[in-house]
Amino acid sequence: MDQSIFRKRIRSVQNLLKEGEVLLLFAANLKIRNRDVEYKFRQDSDYYYLTGIEEEDGILTLRRNHSAHFALPKDKEREIWTGIRLGKEEIGRRLELDDSFDLSDWNSRICEILTNQFTLYHFFGKDRERDTKLLDLISTLNLRLREGKFGPQRWEIPNFLHEMRMIKSPEEIEKLKEASEITAAGHKRLMRETRPLMFEFELEAILESEYLRLGAWGGGYGHIVAAGKNATILHYTSNRARIGETDAILVDSGAEKDYYTADVTRVFPAGKKFTSEQKTIYELVLLAQKEAIANTKSGVEFNFVHEKTVRTLASGLKDLGFLKGELSELIERGEFRRFYMHRTGHYLGMDVHDVGRYFENGKSKPMQNGLVVTVEPGLYFDPSDESIPERFRGIGVRIEDDVLVNGETPIVLTSGIPKEIGEIEALRD
Ligand code: GLY
Ligand code: MN
Ligand code: MN
Repeated sequence: MDQSIFRKRIRSVQNLLKEGEVLLLFAANLKIRNRDVEYKFRQDSDYYYLTGIEEEDGILTLRRNHSAHFALPKDKEREIWTGIRLGKEEIGRRLELDDSFDLSDWNSRICEILTNQFTLYHFFGKDRERDTKLLDLISTLNLRLREGKFGPQRWEIPNFLHEMRMIKSPEEIEKLKEASEITAAGHKRLMRETRPLMFEFELEAILESEYLRLGAWGGGYGHIVAAGKNATILHYTSNRARIGETDAILVDSGAEKDYYTADVTRVFPAGKKFTSEQKTIYELVLLAQKEAIANTKSGVEFNFVHEKTVRTLASGLKDLGFLKGELSELIERGEFRRFYMHRTGHYLGMDVHDVGRYFENGKSKPMQNGLVVTVEPGLYFDPSDESIPERFRGIGVRIEDDVLVNGETPIVLTSGIPKEIGEIEALRD
C-alpha cells in the first residue's frame, strides 16, 4: 500500500486522541521455534495498520500533537546476517514523524513522552513481559509526584483503533479481493487434482504452494483439510489421514496477501460424485448459506444472520427426521447444537477473526458498508452417535464465503470458488 495511507491513518489516530492521552503500539517480536530457529516473522496487525513496517521490535508512540517511533538501529554487522533494517531516519521520513529514535534511546525518551500524560492507551494482555515492564516504568514516573510530575493515571485498551480497522477502506477491500483470488486458485486446484487415497497433507501442500506461488504470505491461519469423519472436528489441522474413496473432503483455508486474509470453506467428494447422504446435507447447508448471504446487508443486526440460519438449519434437520418436536422449542432448548455448534460468521480482515465490537450496550451491532464478514453455516454428524442412521454418521459440511457489506447488495468476495453441487462435480471429472 502507498505510504501516504499509513501517514493518513497516523494522523486520524492523532486526531482522535485528546490532550493528555498517549498511545503506545508495539511491533511483533521474533519468536523462537526451537533453539536458534525462529518462527517465520509476521508483523503485529495493529502496528502494521498504522506503520506499514515489517520489522520486528519497533514502537510507535502517538499523542495529539506529537508522533515518535523507536526502531532497531542500523548495524552493518547485524544486517549482513539478518537483512537490511530501515533505521530511524528512513522510518521518520516515511511516516513524517516528529521524532524517530533508536530503540537504545527508549529508556530516556519514553519518560519524556509519558510525563504528565494522564491516559495511556496500550493493548494490555498481548505480551505479559512487556506489560510488566510498562507498569514498572509508570510506577517509576509516578514517584515524581512531589516534583509536580506524574505518569499515566489511567490505562485503557485502544478499542478505537479496532473500530477503525473494522470498516475497510477501498484499498483494504482491494487487498481482500486479491487474497480471495489467490484462495480461489488454491481451492480450485484441489477440486481438480484430488484423488482418492491421497493424504490430506498432500492437499495442504497444494494449497500452500499455490498461495506462495501467487505471492501470498501463505495461509492466513492453519489449513484445515479434513476427509471423511475428520470433517466433524471443527479445528482439525493435523491433516495426516488418507482420503477414502467415498469421503467428502472439507477444506477450510484462506490465503493472506499483504496482511489481509481470506477465510473459505468448501466440501467436495473424493470420488466423482457426492453420496446421496452427503448431497442431502450439503443442499441444506447451501440453502442456509445463500439465505445468510442475502441477509448480510447494511443496517441488519449481525446476530440476526445467525438466528435466521439456526432456524433454517433446525427446520431442515426436523424435515429430515434428525430433530423431533416443535421448531421453536428445538431452537430455544438449543437441540440444534448437536449438529450446529458454532456461529454463522465473524468479522474478517487483517486477522481471520478480525477486530471490532459485535455488541454495543448489550445489543448486536447493525452491519455497516465496508464491513467484511464470513458466512459459514455447517452441519456435523457425530461419527459415534448411534441415534443417527449409520450412513449419515461422520458427515461434516461447512460452506464459507467472505462477504462485503454493501447496502442492500452483499458482495461475495470469494464467489470465484464453485459451491453448487453441479459445478463441483464437473471439476471432479
Ligand atoms: N477458519 C476459521 C474459521 O472459519 O473461523
Ligand atoms: Mn471463518
Ligand atoms: Mn474458515
